[in-house]
Amino acid sequence: MARETWATRVGFILAAAGSAVGLGNIWRFPWVTADNGGSAFLAVYLGIVLLVGVPGLLAEFVVGRRGKKSPVGALRDLSGSRGWGLWGVFYVITAIALLSFYSVVGGWILRYFGESASGLVGAPPAYFAAPGQYFGGVAAGPDAFGFHLLFLALTALVVLGGVRRGIELGTKVMMPAVLVLLVGLAVWAGARPGAAAAYAFYLAFDVATVRANFFDVLGPAAGQALFTLSLGAGTMITYASYIDEDRSLPFDATVIAALNTLVGVLAGLVVFPLLFSLGVDPAQTSPGPGALFVGLAGAFAQLPGGVVIATAFFGVVVLAALSSSISMLEIPVSFLVDEYGLGRRRAVALVAAGVVATGGLCAFNPTIAGTAVFGFVAGPLVDTLLTVGLIAVLLFVGWVMGRDALAELRSGAGGPSAAVATPWLLAVGAVLPVFLVFTLLTTVGVDAGLGFWPTVLVAVVVGAAAVAGLRTERALL
Ligand code: PHE
Repeated sequence: MARETWATRVGFILAAAGSAVGLGNIWRFPWVTADNGGSAFLAVYLGIVLLVGVPGLLAEFVVGRRGKKSPVGALRDLSGSRGWGLWGVFYVITAIALLSFYSVVGGWILRYFGESASGLVGAPPAYFAAPGQYFGGVAAGPDAFGFHLLFLALTALVVLGGVRRGIELGTKVMMPAVLVLLVGLAVWAGARPGAAAAYAFYLAFDVATVRANFFDVLGPAAGQALFTLSLGAGTMITYASYIDEDRSLPFDATVIAALNTLVGVLAGLVVFPLLFSLGVDPAQTSPGPGALFVGLAGAFAQLPGGVVIATAFFGVVVLAALSSSISMLEIPVSFLVDEYGLGRRRAVALVAAGVVATGGLCAFNPTIAGTAVFGFVAGPLVDTLLTVGLIAVLLFVGWVMGRDALAELRSGAGGPSAAVATPWLLAVGAVLPVFLVFTLLTTVGVDAGLGFWPTVLVAVVVGAAAVAGLRTERALL
């Protein structure tokens, strides 16, 4: 059977943007921002999205479109090495880890949406009375498991429809709905009394603060940038394997990163004014993963028309989460279809059955060896898997594909892309991997030992050596 492709030009952009826009923007972004000091974090994060995210997206697109297979087949065929194929399995595992906790959070959101929507016609939502207590009661255990199953079933249903009738059609409806609803909510939130203080916390850009906190926020900012752009999980490789040669990859990557950033910033413009209007200072309370469910839910309970706003808000989040979770499920599914010739149905059933169990582990959230499973999977595990995963793709593009990557990037793109192609390859093959290894190291505190300028110096020297090596190796001028 011929490999399916996206039916329309916007189809791919919306599907990829739908994957990028998700709980990362709406649930994770506000609390990671608040935990890391607001605007200083925002500045570093935006810099990484632009300088690492866009070239990184391009790297995954080039591998996917050239390889026309799931990450496993693409890496193996393009390199002619079974070792790289084996490495591809890493992405399948990452995708399953992601979906495991994502589906649990998706389940929480579904529950809050259902509660809010039924509040439109009946009694006020149960979480209105005591948001903290309510969330504590439903975040883990049989309840969380049940809603995880429901969210997973919805995800499976879309993926079952295939690339065109499932993923493309689904995201074509979901993405515009998310945008329209979020803009409406941001305008409404801007009229709240706390809005001015919230904007100051969130948007004030102060060079001194950024400089002072640079290394502290680097690790979380990089992790968040990769997570929100769906990078390092092989998602973008998989989605790009369904595109035709006539698309301009640089154009698509820029649009997708811009849309994703827009939604992230919009979500902040909704969440922070609401928190501030209740006198909750996110920097003081470090809200954590419950922020959306406790802080915001509390805000909805106290506002006039709160039920309507809550329904719209959780509705947005359900759609955004679903358009991301389908992209996670599609990775193992395309792997089983490409490598073992399984039908889509059986592949979806098999993977979903596995995630019922692995997600169940996150839903019941036991403590293993002193660490709660959910927090570990949703935080450090995923951050590390994505960073390592992206470093490998970048090195693959620079050192294994080399000139083929340049040709693939140029195919379908206009004149300017010819000019950026070589610098892009040097960035992807040398500068960015050095930078990402470096961010991994800052999370274990190397910079604290070395100091600011020596650390920067070492990174620059290693980066320059890598660029020189890559130019000679690939005869790039
Ligand atoms: N980008 C998605 C979000 O922001 C999460 C995601 C990560 C999706 C990795 C696919 C792969 O919610």
